[in-house]
Amino acid sequence: MKGVILAGGLGKRLFPLTKITNKHLLPVYDRPMIYYPIETLLNAGIRDILIVTGGNNAGDFLRLLGNGNDFGLKHLNYTYQQKEGGIAEALGLAEHFADGEKILVMLGDNIIEGNLRVSVDNFKKQKSGAKILLKQVDNPREYGIAYIKKGRILKIEEKPKNPKSNYAVTGIYMYDSEVFDIVKTLKPSARGELEITDVNNAYLRKENLSYSFLKGFWLDAGESIDALLKTNKIVAQKGANKKYF
Ligand code: DAU
Repeated sequence: MKGVILAGGLGKRLFPLTKITNKHLLPVYDRPMIYYPIETLLNAGIRDILIVTGGNNAGDFLRLLGNGNDFGLKHLNYTYQQKEGGIAEALGLAEHFADGEKILVMLGDNIIEGNLRVSVDNFKKQKSGAKILLKQVDNPREYGIAYIKKGRILKIEEKPKNPKSNYAVTGIYMYDSEVFDIVKTLKPSARGELEITDVNNAYLRKENLSYSFLKGFWLDAGESIDALLKTNKIVAQKGANKKYF
């Protein structure tokens, strides 16, 4: 399975920190944010990785990561998102790279404690469709939220005003190659973006979306300045006895 890390967007919620650099290059404890999702993919056994970036400082990813030698890789793939057209638009740029294979997609500002290997192995066995990972949260208005009844997801709502559940859809998604056809059918949402939640709901309508719960902490470092601070604190606490890469 191949891996795609989405690191485009303008990071407006973290202004002015992101005025002169890309959000995913900001420090989280002792290393740049983008190191964490790369390490998560490697720990899951995924070594063929595409980084989708964008904005004004895309060249800095090359300066920082090069061919991924610091991670024991011989090669890293890159592509560039022209505008901030949404997570699903950024994902659409991975079609050529995926080349018909299943992919694991991870948002570049998501940091997790656990290992994705079991979920990845389960998805490899899944004949087709998609798989998402859920986590219970205290602030469901900030995320895509899944409504589950009798063990089945009924619907996913993006940042609901009145959430009726607190099962957040984390920024870790597994897709078969049909995802690129689905992306091509999407229309921009009220915030002018192609939404990943619409992709997942499309799989849901086809009754081809599985899920499991993520173990260990899940942090969305890019959600707000406070989230970035909280992420730094938690990672620093763990960092003393955990090797991240
Ligand atoms: O973190 C999990 C949440 O991520 C999910 O629960 C939501 O359903 C999902 O929509 C997303 O919500 P956010 O509002 O937090 O997404 P954000 O705009 O912060 O983008 C997350 C990452 O996606 C960002 O770090 C880089 C990438 N991205 C985003 C946009 C808008 C791109 O590569 N290109 C883009 O145009």
